[in-house]
Amino acid sequence: MESRFQDGDIKSWEEVSLLYNSALKQMNTKIEILNDEFQEVHRYNPIEHIKSRIKTPESIVKKLRRHGYESTLVNMMKYINDIAGIRIICSFTSDIYRIADMISNQKDIKVLNIKDYIMNPKTSGYRSYHMIVAVPVYLSDHTAEVKVEVQIRTVAMDFWASLEHKIQYKFETKAPANIKAQLFECARMVAELDDRMLSLNEEIQAITPQED
Ligand code: GTP
Ligand code: MG
Repeated sequence: MESRFQDGDIKSWEEVSLLYNSALKQMNTKIEILNDEFQEVHRYNPIEHIKSRIKTPESIVKKLRRHGYESTLVNMMKYINDIAGIRIICSFTSDIYRIADMISNQKDIKVLNIKDYIMNPKTSGYRSYHMIVAVPVYLSDHTAEVKVEVQIRTVAMDFWASLEHKIQYKFETKAPANIKAQLFECARMVAELDDRMLSLNEEIQAITPQED
């Protein structure tokens, strides 16, 4: 697949932004269709909600600098995998893998990288399923392949991650040890809650309602 933009032909941030916004639209539509189909066939919504965002140029530049790269448009597209980000929030851990499979199985999506922080949580306690995918964006005279970071997590994992993110931001990675310890303990409780909710849901599904 030809991808002229990735060969250094990008002239402006506006072009980068157009590409990544288009990739987000593609991904959002794909995910909405999967959710609609699931609702139709199984009478069940695996997705609670979807959030998407484009990283600001300031934070892209900061990340490039942090990794020792010059701030060029080519470096942005080459080294920053989360310029376009989608977060899919679902109810149960099993939904996460179901959604990840449905995304990976799409013919025009290339999965470039997977980080399963549910099987292998971070030392902070962070849990989520991450994929870096490449999606085709069809332009007037060529097709560009654009990277999107997809984070899939449960409502409970999202609740934890948003508080932890606020704390990271507030203390700039130097959070007091006792706060970190409490967060870690909360992450353990969140994992336990996710497990309990999943088995409770399975129990509920197995019960056939009594007709009266
Ligand atoms: P970044 O440089 O942060 O993008 O990390 P990375 O390139 O090593 O990728 P990774 O998959 O570890 O993290 C990507 C994204 O996941 C981050 O930008 C956050 O949105 C989220 N994330 C990762 N670790 C944590 C964590 O410990 N706490 C929270 N709240 N979010 C996290
Ligand atoms: Mg990131």
